[in-house]
Amino acid sequence: MNILLLGAPGSGKGSQAKLLETKFGLKHISTGDILRESVKNETSLGKLAKEYMNKGELVPDELILDLIEERISKVDCLGGVIFDGFPRTIKQAEGLDNLLVKNNKRLNHVLSIDVPFDKIITRLTARMVCSGCGKDYNKISNPPKSDKCDVCNGDVIVRADDNEATIKNRLDVYKKSTEPLIDYYNNKNILKRIDGDKDVNLVFNDVEKLLQ
Ligand code: AP5
Repeated sequence: MNILLLGAPGSGKGSQAKLLETKFGLKHISTGDILRESVKNETSLGKLAKEYMNKGELVPDELILDLIEERISKVDCLGGVIFDGFPRTIKQAEGLDNLLVKNNKRLNHVLSIDVPFDKIITRLTARMVCSGCGKDYNKISNPPKSDKCDVCNGDVIVRADDNEATIKNRLDVYKKSTEPLIDYYNNKNILKRIDGDKDVNLVFNDVEKLLQ
């Protein structure tokens, strides 16, 4: 089974993808996570991507499609994948269609997670993450016990793009470049919409129902 999660920044794609990965044994592919790892390791891709990411702009389509082509050909994707944060443009979606045909795969479900933008801004301005294990914290609802990660004792940081100005730009970029994908997949009759403005586990219950 191959699943694609659409939704604005902060709509909960990553949180739902992790739950899906655990429950269904699918491979979670987050272009944002791959890019952040490349930035951290100062690879050539990371050096190119960093500037776009820090401004909340999209990394060029060609780089993203190359990255995905390499990633989905790996053996750990044979049992099915969850695409999180990809595609983000019509060009990426068309590129994915071609890559899926080439790899004898197809999308089984496309889910759009819908959350009002004011709620998203509250979520993202409060988010903190562990720079070691990636555990997610929230300054309001789920803070770490100290300035270190409760699990691995790594540094708990605020993502470089989680400041209000950049969050607003990410949302503008989403509206302009990514939201048209809702119609793109609706026209293919595989889009389903989820109300993401409720507790993570309640959202996951709805996700599971839609996959049945
Ligand atoms: P990426 O890492 O994909 O970031 P994003 O799309 O901005 O998404 P987020 O990770 O912020 O949010 P999410 O929807 O996954 O929500 P999450 O579950 O984490 O991309 C970063 C950058 O990389 C882009 O801006 C771009 O520059 C570049 N990039 C990446 N992919 C690209 C591509 N394909 N093309 C070009 N450039 C690309 O949740 C967010 C927060 O909300 C967390 O704190 C979480 O705990 C909380 N939360 C989640 N669900 C709920 C809920 N139901 N209720 C309350 N809180 C919740």
